[in-house]
Amino acid sequence: MRTGYDLELVHLTKRYGDTVAVRDLNHVFVKGSYVCLLGPSGCGKSSTLGMIAGHEDVSEGAFGC
Ligand SMILES: Nc1ncnc2c1ncn2[C@@H]1O[C@H](COP(=O)(O)OP(=O)(O)OP(=O)(O)O)[C@@H](O)[C@H]1O
Ligand SMILES: [Mg+2]
Repeated sequence: MRTGYDLELVHLTKRYGDTVAVRDLNHVFVKGSYVCLLGPSGCGKSSTLGMIAGHEDVSEGAFGC
């Protein structure tokens, strides 16, 4: 069930110059859920978490709710 406290990534994209670290990521993290980001080195896990934490500027897209 969706609530207003969910974390929604809407077309989230992160670029470092010409490098696209995260491309058009869409996902809803449901409040209280336990989530792991898995993937090969360089696939954008840290960049994604950095944007969520506010440590990295978002190049395109936004956070919904
Ligand atoms: N500060 C930065 N400046 C330029 N490019 C970067 C920077 N940080 C990450 N990148 C590039 O963005 C892409 C995604 O990197 P990121 O660190 O988000 O991946 P990752 O999934 O966390 O990798 P790892 O499993 O090795 O930690 C890679 O191509 C990386 O080289
Ligand atoms: Mg990382």
